[in-house]
Amino acid sequence: MKKILILGATGSIGMSTLKIIKRYPEYFKIVGVTAFSNEERLKRIMSDFNVKSGGLKSKNILYRGNKIEKRTDDINEILAEDLDYDIVVNGLVGSIGFPPTLIAIERGKIIALANKETIVAYGQIIKKALKKNPKSQIRPVDSEHSALWQLLDKIDRRELEKCYITASGGVPFKKKTDVLSLADVLNHPTWSMGKKVTVDSSTMVNKGLEVIEACNLFNLKPEQIGVLIHPQSIIHAAVLLKDGTYMAHMAIPDMVLPISYALFYPFRPKEMLIGKIKEKENYDLTLHAIDADKYLSIKLAYSALDRQMTFPAVYNAANEGAVSLFLKERIQFKDIVAIIDKVMKEHSPKGRISIQNIRESEIWAKKRAIEIGEKL
Ligand SMILES: NC(=O)c1ccc[n+]([C@@H]2O[C@H](COP(=O)([O-])OP(=O)(O)OC[C@H]3O[C@@H](n4cnc5c(N)ncnc54)[C@H](OP(=O)(O)O)[C@@H]3O)[C@@H](O)[C@H]2O)c1
Repeated sequence: MKKILILGATGSIGMSTLKIIKRYPEYFKIVGVTAFSNEERLKRIMSDFNVKSGGLKSKNILYRGNKIEKRTDDINEILAEDLDYDIVVNGLVGSIGFPPTLIAIERGKIIALANKETIVAYGQIIKKALKKNPKSQIRPVDSEHSALWQLLDKIDRRELEKCYITASGGVPFKKKTDVLSLADVLNHPTWSMGKKVTVDSSTMVNKGLEVIEACNLFNLKPEQIGVLIHPQSIIHAAVLLKDGTYMAHMAIPDMVLPISYALFYPFRPKEMLIGKIKEKENYDLTLHAIDADKYLSIKLAYSALDRQMTFPAVYNAANEGAVSLFLKERIQFKDIVAIIDKVMKEHSPKGRISIQNIRESEIWAKKRAIEIGEKL
């Protein structure tokens, strides 16, 4: 029986996690859940799964059994620090997911990490913390990284030539970007996800973040990770070995699979929790090269990787700022990546990498992205 804390339990990742736990009550017990403002859903989860501790960020309150505490400090951090758990599922959006992740690492816990922004912005700090706390482990939940994790586990790293992650190509792959509305963008062709990650998928910033995430998780050099467009979202990642062999990971696009892999690791559930590829149907699995001119978002991610320092954090924070404006329909779709580009050009890193330094760069980049966007 594993004790589970779910940060962002009411979101898309949170709800997929609950599906698995509901099916396996003999393996998992939820000890804590958090949400931003969806109080009704949070309370329903607490009652359905008999969870004693819950946190609602928008009101800064903690539910502890029948008691309610009003707090000034962050509810995610409090639960990550106080509760007795084996695995924390981090399904928060944005780099606000970093502090509870660091606490979990320092406590030697397992982190099932969906919250990619954290490993992008604070990758260097997290790598150091993991070295210091070898009992702790990050298990990637992003489907591409879960796929890479499984592939890399099977090979001798000396055999590795290059890793590939796939992208559905976002809406721009199918439509002209200058006419895209918010509704067009939120209608992702293959995945059903939260709003921010859906917008990120459409701009392909999501893939840019994932390139940085892959380098940080698996200690890859930027030239060792490539992106291929794969509109069907069946192949999630592949590795190329030095002898010319390609090994790929394929599955129906459903986040239940990578989440269950992270929860059950090193085992797999004995039954199929998601659909399978129908043997009697024809599947055209296509892979396209990335057109670098079309995807400035990917170019900027590699540039952030090459320059390191606070550039990955700035890439992510400028995007968080720009996406927040797009979700309020204050800027157009095509403005998002242009804003990130401008903010990155203005950024000049100062001093050595530290939590404070990264945090300051993030605050500056998000504010600057919003200023630029509001003037458009
Ligand atoms: N969804 C996917 O299929 C998918 C796939 C791969 C990776 N990811 C990554 O997983 C992360 C989560 O994505 P998602 O699609 O699940 O997002 P989502 O549906 O928007 O859910 C976000 C969750 O976090 C909660 N939340 C937001 N800010 C919070 C705060 N400060 N304190 C506590 N709770 C907070 C939200 O609460 P409310 O419900 O109250 O707003 C919600 O429960 C992102 O980093 C995303 O890139 C997602």
